[in-house]
Amino acid sequence: MTTPASTLITGIAALVTNDPALGRGPLGLIEEAAVVIADGRFAWVGRAADAPAADAVHDAGGRAALPGFVDSHSHLVFAGDRTAEFNARMSGRSYSAGGIRTTVAATRAATDEELAAGLARYLREALRQGTTTMETKSGYGLNTEDEARAVRIAAAHTDEVTFLGAHIVSPDYADDPAGYVDLVTGPMLDACAPYARWIDVFCEQGAFDADQSRAILTAGRDKGLGVRVHANQLHHGPGVQLAVELGAASADHCTHLDAADLDALANSDTVATLLPGAEFSTRAEWPDARRILDAGATVALSTDCNPGSSFTSSMPFCVALAVRDMGMTPDEAVWSATAGGARALRRSDVGAVTPGAVADLALLDAPSHVHLAYRPGVPLVSAVWHKGEQAG
Ligand code: NIG
Ligand code: FE
Repeated sequence: MTTPASTLITGIAALVTNDPALGRGPLGLIEEAAVVIADGRFAWVGRAADAPAADAVHDAGGRAALPGFVDSHSHLVFAGDRTAEFNARMSGRSYSAGGIRTTVAATRAATDEELAAGLARYLREALRQGTTTMETKSGYGLNTEDEARAVRIAAAHTDEVTFLGAHIVSPDYADDPAGYVDLVTGPMLDACAPYARWIDVFCEQGAFDADQSRAILTAGRDKGLGVRVHANQLHHGPGVQLAVELGAASADHCTHLDAADLDALANSDTVATLLPGAEFSTRAEWPDARRILDAGATVALSTDCNPGSSFTSSMPFCVALAVRDMGMTPDEAVWSATAGGARALRRSDVGAVTPGAVADLALLDAPSHVHLAYRPGVPLVSAVWHKGEQAG
């Protein structure tokens, strides 16, 4: 089948564009809308009544539509799972970063093909749920060879690859954390940087402190990588301040913030990326999205999909949690899961339905984007266009 030169998608009951110049409110909402896709981009966006002719027509049948979700934080290069750990946690045990070692052992033992197949499977799973851009991290190899193969495999599947050699101190360096920082900032970074766009550190008690984190992030930045930080997830700590100090694109988790952290985020370009799947799956305190938004910071929502703390690939689920438990309005949550994710990845070509943007679109079996929160757990995403092609 040849791809038509242009496709008109019409009959959209309510379209989230994320461009206030195109429609109503911060979501730039257009009722009775249509879009034209050509060459993988949106060529035209507006009221269906005004739509130009195209080579092919798709009738959305009164469904709502929104930009494909931009999931700016996941850990998908891994093998095995942590069902037993989850079960124990749901019987009262608490989450600790130590479980990461279980996945490191399984990942090291896996073949390249197994890791690639797992990654492809989770990306497909996410795409079916409307995610068209997905960042993913290394961090379950923790030696030069296995971290390098993780970023190499990730780079074959997504442009948004993050080197997270500093997930925890490698078990190989249990007695020599300084030696591990030297490895991460030296040979491991050299081997991984060519495949990655970003560097990340788990700045947390039991992982990396402020000085170690700064050394690692600065080394990555010097190699041309953008900075993102796992910050203030399990305790209050220096992660958010460090992220802002280093001009990070994103400080992720942001569960334990004080007034100075809020102030720092609000006065920076660093996005606060909230990951409600992690709090859900670890029965932890929710990040206070309301407080972060009211302080004036930019918020993104992401899945954190990983086998330990948040084994969900569903952005709709995260939107519903953010609305129910983190004080976000449905409009804010939908913005954060699309445009917010794009900001967290410093991308201006995704996360919005505007002429010239990449034609990533999700149709919902619902008349409004609000149903993503109103109808939790219901598979509402009924069709997805990715780079102008209908997926699935
Ligand atoms: O973002 N916090 C650190 N890393 C992951 C958890 C990884 C794991 O438990 O395997 C997170 O929650
Ligand atoms: Fe994470």
